[in-house]
Amino acid sequence: MHEFSRQEFSQRRQQLMSRMQAGIAVIPTAPEVTRNRDSHYPYRFDSYFYYLTGFKEPEAVLVLVAGAENKSILFCRDKDIEREIWDGFRHGPEAARTEFGFDETYSITQLDEILPKLMANQPALFYSLGNDAGWDAKLTGWLNTVRAQTRSGIQAPAAVVDVRQHVDSLRLIKSPWEIDLMRRSAEIAAGAHNRAMQVAKPGKWEYEVEAEFLHAFYRQGAQAPAYTSIVAGGANACTLHYNANNAELKQGDLLLIDAGCELDGYASDITRTFPVSGRFSGPQKDLYELVLTAQAAAIASVSPQHHWNAPHEAALGVLVDGFIHYGLCQGSRDEVLENGSYRQFYMHRTGHWLGLDVHDAGEYKTSAGDWVMLQAGNVLTVEPGCYVRPADNVPEHFWNIGIRIEDDVLVTEAGHDVITTAAIKSVHDIEALMRDSA
Ligand code: GLY
Ligand code: MN
Ligand code: MN
Repeated sequence: MHEFSRQEFSQRRQQLMSRMQAGIAVIPTAPEVTRNRDSHYPYRFDSYFYYLTGFKEPEAVLVLVAGAENKSILFCRDKDIEREIWDGFRHGPEAARTEFGFDETYSITQLDEILPKLMANQPALFYSLGNDAGWDAKLTGWLNTVRAQTRSGIQAPAAVVDVRQHVDSLRLIKSPWEIDLMRRSAEIAAGAHNRAMQVAKPGKWEYEVEAEFLHAFYRQGAQAPAYTSIVAGGANACTLHYNANNAELKQGDLLLIDAGCELDGYASDITRTFPVSGRFSGPQKDLYELVLTAQAAAIASVSPQHHWNAPHEAALGVLVDGFIHYGLCQGSRDEVLENGSYRQFYMHRTGHWLGLDVHDAGEYKTSAGDWVMLQAGNVLTVEPGCYVRPADNVPEHFWNIGIRIEDDVLVTEAGHDVITTAAIKSVHDIEALMRDSA
């Protein structure tokens, strides 16, 4: 368990307030969501709210007042012994203030009374309009309450600014504390992938392998899978977001697993592809090594000297050359890149930002339309793949092969650091591990 760092979270709030300069920010956490009747989905806080508070309870709102004097205020559930007997511990405003380092805390029941007072005479409201209709209506109501007081000389905020944009640029650069957590999240998921290679065999079912991941995640302290695990045997691997996970694993098929965990909010995101029987066939090996080479080229171009799209371009070049070599695409590299025929086999991009959200916050292009430069502290995935559905223009020995290899990569001053290397991926290592565990 990583220790909670009150200073880290309070520093983030200070950074945001210095970007705001003057005004008030209102950042609610996520609501609880009913699954059916009295059951809820497992609760997950809002990533922006959590990034700025570290507070995991539902029914909470962060308010930041930036100006001559910065102030951070939390509204949260009251202590309630009766409810705590049924649903568990609540901090309550008093304990939340000292434990999480807010300047002021109030009961969530006081929100309607206090918020218009806090909004009065603030030049700008920093709020993410359009994400939640319920909160939008509340904010509009409070704004109108303040506007109704203009005859008493009170000014309502003149501007509404999307607070998320300011937080996004902070979230893009991970602190040492976050990097530690992400390494641990990556380590748990990597171990689970190695374990899956040891237990998968013909006659097992995809869900049995999925269960190995849940077991590995929970027993090592991760609170949840970071997204629904994809456990796709044979042709199922050619469905990019396959998650039925209910088919039997067959001799001769590959198994593609895309699974990662969430540890104290931070996601890992790993894909490995390996033969169910423990040995790659010739065509499987050809395409696997092609994707692995493409991934190596992409990872090599992760550094602060390169822009966001450089890894994608590097992977694509290798893949297109391979597709031509194996008769999947016709023409020269430039022609195939130009006419887009490679998209029949590689139809997604090579990665995304990773952090509190598996597809994490942050821009990929500048406002001028250029790809952003990579910066030390960024964490991204590098995940090229190749998916061959049966088609007349495709050599039959490649049909139904679906491969993706995905790692999580930290950008460093010197270049990069792959934080998921513990998950083995060379043909040699996979075949040796599966042979030893047969
Ligand atoms: N697991 C989702 C992704 O790889 O983007
Ligand atoms: Mn993934
Ligand atoms: Mn991914």
